[in-house]
Amino acid sequence: MSEQRFDAVVIGAGPGGYPAAIRLGQLKVKTAVIEREYMGGVCLNVGCIPSKAVIHAAKMFDKMSHADDIGIGIAGKPTLDMKKMQTWKGGVVNKLTSGVRTLLKGNGVTILEGTAKLEKPGPDGHRIVVQTKDGPQTVVAKNIVIATGSRPIEIPGFKIDQQRIIDSTGALALDEVPKRMVVIGGGYIGLELGMVYAKFGTKVTVVEALPRLLGTMDKDCVAVVDRKLKKMGVEVMVNAKAKSWEDKGDRAVLTVEIDGKTATIDTDKILLSVGRRPNTENLGLDTVGVALDKRGYVLADEHLRTNVGGIYAIGDVIGGMMLAHKATKEGEVVAEVIAGHKAAFDVRTIPAVVFTDPEIASTGLTEEEAKEKGHAKLRVGKFPFAALGRALSVNETDGFVKVIADAGTGELLGVHIVGNGASDLISEAALAIEMGAVADDLRLTIHPHPTLSEAVMEAAAVALGEAIHVINR
Ligand code: FAD
Ligand code: NAI
Repeated sequence: MSEQRFDAVVIGAGPGGYPAAIRLGQLKVKTAVIEREYMGGVCLNVGCIPSKAVIHAAKMFDKMSHADDIGIGIAGKPTLDMKKMQTWKGGVVNKLTSGVRTLLKGNGVTILEGTAKLEKPGPDGHRIVVQTKDGPQTVVAKNIVIATGSRPIEIPGFKIDQQRIIDSTGALALDEVPKRMVVIGGGYIGLELGMVYAKFGTKVTVVEALPRLLGTMDKDCVAVVDRKLKKMGVEVMVNAKAKSWEDKGDRAVLTVEIDGKTATIDTDKILLSVGRRPNTENLGLDTVGVALDKRGYVLADEHLRTNVGGIYAIGDVIGGMMLAHKATKEGEVVAEVIAGHKAAFDVRTIPAVVFTDPEIASTGLTEEEAKEKGHAKLRVGKFPFAALGRALSVNETDGFVKVIADAGTGELLGVHIVGNGASDLISEAALAIEMGAVADDLRLTIHPHPTLSEAVMEAAAVALGEAIHVINR
């Protein structure tokens, strides 16, 4: 068996692993990255990027269907060629994943294609066996970064077969629009992809176990999306649990328990989106003694160190917010730590975006969380897009910006946006919170006119009781 030696080996080339490897390369640490399936991980191949491409296509389709609202006539109805859309989506993914390869190589990182498993360490360092298409290879490394990501959770009786029961990967690969789809789990994936298919003409039903959708997001923001779902004809069942399903040949029949009663739903596809779990199995973590928490996530400290010297972990596999940008930040930090720099994952806020229609973007605390953290009195300012010139002129007036500040100090605690462009608007708020800004900083900074970003400034003004474009109360 051939044997290669590195100062650092990263297992997994997702948005956690590949930036870690690139940064290690930049810091002149001799590095290899091991990837078993696809460069760029879930995010680039079957997650963030393809889903946003499909969401864009659905938005465009929907806009074209309603172009008449602003006086644009389209002869006939817009049509959809799913196969062509899939080819376009594939092209977007390919450009990015081949870019990752180029970046890794350009930074001197060795790419090993295969499945990694940790073995008992030897006197010369940690040992990994990589099953490649040419047989097993041994890699010896001073440092190892576990960046193996996550996969969908299955619930009893609902085995993902990518035919009737599909996960996000299956939902992103459909080359025909199903007539009916039940989405189990009204979280990020269920609502992003449920809305896509609703726009393409599928009759969508969302089955959510909790009393409300998107439980981690600001409830006022979610209410706006909730209304939109209803307007689109999506049926939302909350306090509802999928119990079982039966294949009837031409359809599936799902049994749901809702408020203690049983209901059945006829459907063509069932999208299972009830969360994701860490990829820690068959990695040899028990062989080397890496500790996991109760839910199976690898335990890592703020320097991304596990309990075993020289073994680090980042990204979805350590839990917390399972988001690409959080994984990437951890990847950059772990590279610095391994290179001997003083670095830690020490952030005030991790922004999150749900790419529904309209989008929800959030950073910092919600009102409930702020109160729990001891901020007894809050200043909350809400500015509706319906009062903003730019929003009116692009015919996207749903939603608002909400700014939450401590009433005593003015410290900015949270910003929650629901509306067109929320995904881009949130970064200003994240920067403000990172810099310890007060609401006045947002209010006093000149924002260009007419732009959607003015709503952030206006919401801060509302919080301070100094709004110009809405009546102060
Ligand atoms: P992953 O991306 O899961 O990468 C881990 C890699 O490790 C994989 O490539 C895997 O093949 C490899 N691997 C695993 N085990 C081994 C092994 N033993 N040997 C070798 N290689 C191995 N996040 C956002 O921030 N924004 C979004 O818009 C967004 N959209 C999403 C849409 C969908 C449909 C999904 C499913 C997720 C989305 N996410 C989004 C979440 C995001 O994809 C993840 O948070 C992110 O991919 C985590 O990065 P990671 O590097 O930790 O893991
Ligand atoms: P999720 O955690 O966002 O939502 C899962 C939902 O399913 C929850 O509302 C939960 O209450 C519900 N649920 C759980 N068990 C259920 C059951 N038996 N019956 C009915 N409902 C049930 O998980 P999701 O949507 O699978 O996404 C996984 C993760 O991927 C997200 O948490 C997020 O971290 C990431 N992601 C991020 C995106 C983004 O940043 N825009 C987009 C897509 C995914």
